[in-house]
Amino acid sequence: MKNFRVAVLANLKVNAPHFDEMADDQWDDLDAESTVLSIRDAIRSAGHEAEFLEADEYIADALRSYKPDICFNISESHFGNSREAQIPAILEKMQIPYTGSKVLCLALTLDKPMTKRILAWHGLPTPDFQSFEREDEQLDGGMRFPLFVKPSREGTGMGISLESIVRDEYELRKQLRLIIRRYKQPALVETFIEGREITVGMVGNLVGPVANRLPDDEDAPRNTAGLTFLPPMEVDLKDYLLTDGVYANRLKTALAADLTYLCPAPLEKTMVEDLNWLAAAVFRVTQCLDCARVDFRLDVHNNNKPYILEINPLPGLSPVISDLVIEGEAAGIHHTELVNMILNTALKRYGMI
Ligand SMILES: Nc1ncnc2c1ncn2[C@@H]1O[C@H](COP(=O)(O)OP(=O)(O)O)[C@@H](O)[C@H]1O
Ligand SMILES: [Mg+2]
Repeated sequence: MKNFRVAVLANLKVNAPHFDEMADDQWDDLDAESTVLSIRDAIRSAGHEAEFLEADEYIADALRSYKPDICFNISESHFGNSREAQIPAILEKMQIPYTGSKVLCLALTLDKPMTKRILAWHGLPTPDFQSFEREDEQLDGGMRFPLFVKPSREGTGMGISLESIVRDEYELRKQLRLIIRRYKQPALVETFIEGREITVGMVGNLVGPVANRLPDDEDAPRNTAGLTFLPPMEVDLKDYLLTDGVYANRLKTALAADLTYLCPAPLEKTMVEDLNWLAAAVFRVTQCLDCARVDFRLDVHNNNKPYILEINPLPGLSPVISDLVIEGEAAGIHHTELVNMILNTALKRYGMI
């Protein structure tokens, strides 16, 4: 196998800027140095050269001097409503290959309401929703309590706690005010889906007809060729239903190591097939590349019907606590191998191997 020069592009939490009135969880999406170094070392162990470069505004100079053949991109960036697309935009401009999804996908999927409009257009099941730019906008007639309020463009459970579940107008307005003020962005209000919490990770790229269209009818063949699905993971929230209710920020950060992750999740084979197919469909319609993770809830009041909550085209790759890594482990794919699977998928896509 050929050896390449690989720049690992990320934004470390310790390097993030500070500003007035910053939310406590402002940078919870960003990476720990240990994560980035473990990715660099995984790539080195496959015989490549690799260095970490902080993906800040000097990145073009750093890239010109390091001259990578390809970048392993996990940068989330700091500011702006399409921030995850910023580094890929620079890489496109400089014609440097990189792992993972491109500008349009990263800009789209960071914005949950925009993504849900695409999913709804394709007939993919996602909770009914309404986007609020102001806290006093009228609630659409079709929206029924309990509802769920979250920021439109954050991740890692930021802004999500027991208070996100709202049961009446008073709670709704209170939470809208908090989210819109704290995160300075529209709030997404969704039907609250009570039920199990499942996430499905994938590595690869779709090939064949599924890459061009979704089947029109339910019985059409489900072609997911090209994608490797990792075993679905369930987060067991039963000990936290009274304190957090959902997979909240506190659970995804401070308590991450204490949670019970069931992987593979105890699910019927047909349910796993359904989830994998839906995950592939979301991957396709949002134009993901190389890897992604799709979050679902199974509606306990509707025969465990799966609802798509969101797609993460930059899933966390912390060697200990990230969902995708836990899923890889359950399939016997350790962190080092998972990182190289993603890199090799991108190298193949660019025709470099
Ligand atoms: N409509 C909803 N109904 C029930 N729970 C939800 C809903 N939306 C989000 N959640 C809960 O909040 C968590 C985080 O929401 P998600 O949209 O996945 O955002 P993040 O980007 O922070 O992971 C989910 O894993 C789930 O536990
Ligand atoms: Mg999520």
